[in-house]
Amino acid sequence: MTACRYLLPRIFGTIEGMTSSAAASNSTASNAPAGTLGANHPLKDGRTSDSPLITAYRGGTPSRRPVWFMRQAGRSLPEYLKVREGVAMLDSCLRPELAAEITLQPVRRHDVDAAIFFSDIVIPLKLAGVSVDIVPGVGPVLDKPVRTAADVAALPTLTWEALEPIREAVRLSVAELGKTPLIGFAGAPFTLAAYMVEGKPSRDHLGPRTMMHADPETWAALATWAADTSGMFLQAQLEAGASAAQLFDSWAGSLGLADYTKYVAPASTRALDHVRGLGAPLIHFGTGTSELLVAMRDVGVDVVGVDYRLPLDEANRRLGGTVPLQGNIDPALLSAPWDVLEAHVREVIAAGSHAPGHVLNLGHGVPPETDPTVLTRVVELIHSIPTE
Ligand code: CP3
Repeated sequence: MTACRYLLPRIFGTIEGMTSSAAASNSTASNAPAGTLGANHPLKDGRTSDSPLITAYRGGTPSRRPVWFMRQAGRSLPEYLKVREGVAMLDSCLRPELAAEITLQPVRRHDVDAAIFFSDIVIPLKLAGVSVDIVPGVGPVLDKPVRTAADVAALPTLTWEALEPIREAVRLSVAELGKTPLIGFAGAPFTLAAYMVEGKPSRDHLGPRTMMHADPETWAALATWAADTSGMFLQAQLEAGASAAQLFDSWAGSLGLADYTKYVAPASTRALDHVRGLGAPLIHFGTGTSELLVAMRDVGVDVVGVDYRLPLDEANRRLGGTVPLQGNIDPALLSAPWDVLEAHVREVIAAGSHAPGHVLNLGHGVPPETDPTVLTRVVELIHSIPTE
């Protein structure tokens, strides 16, 4: 089995006020203990270390082709809509029994090879005390956007204690999952900061992109805050039982390579510094990031997630065959006739076979209108195709 942790020497410069390899010790977030996975952790006690998912993430040959779907828990499932009735999105994430139940629903239904923890990238903001909500059909909305040095200085600090509902939901999920790994996640600093500066979803992310050039010190302070806040969220999930973690930089595709490398990558490295010593595979995913794949690998991750725009053989060529890939079934094809979808899934598998490991996923999240029986059929198809 090849160890695929790919840690290039840190080639990035530093942004004023932000070092690229800062450890949790000089973190702006407070009081997280030094991280370690206990002997009862599923990666340590043998439950998940040889699972198809973890084997593929580490570049080995899995017993079956691993597959999971971003946003597999959510509005495509009638059982999700039922348990969410009358409960606001962020409240559902902070009720441990409910969050665990929603995390488990797609595993029971689809026989996917991983659960993804049901939560949201803005949950650590809320737990820190930032006033944020998810408006149905819109997305995250902040009461007060963060635009000036004073706004950043006034941000509250996330504490380790505040993350207890997250650890509890992870523990409850993992207790039910047995040999199926749980994947933890966090928003990458740019995607999180994009919501914070705009105060709401936006298409072009002009606010944060202006800030990084017009006021680089304030940008660095905000990116550092976001890095430590997301880093602690990841640490809480991994230590409570998650076997891998994915950093979502959903909006990094709005950046050119130069801006990404100078203003964003060091913060993403810093977020992952909170957990990279734990030995759990780390995955990095963004959309519209075909030109950023190498830089996204170089923040120090084991696996790169590829969106639906770039065939996996070309992604692997750009990455020089250095890391396993995750992806990249086009979510649009989930609503196409089955023969069209099946041919596409087979093409994705063929393209992925060039990489030193491949975990099937979508090229972005499950659209809410997806027929869930189609997802189950896709999983059955993928599992029916031998690994060698
Ligand atoms: O199955 C899973 O993937 C697990 C849970 C998960 C959610 N959000 C649940 C959710 C994960 C991993 C996320 C991450 C997330 N949240 C990202 C990164 C991934 C991506 O999609 O690019 C982003 C950008 C967000 C912010 C966010 N939260 C948006 C844009 C929305 C959609 C708003 C809407 O109503 O269209 C949310 C809400 C959200 N997060 C839902 C779910 C299941 C839908 C809310 C609902 O069911 O009412």
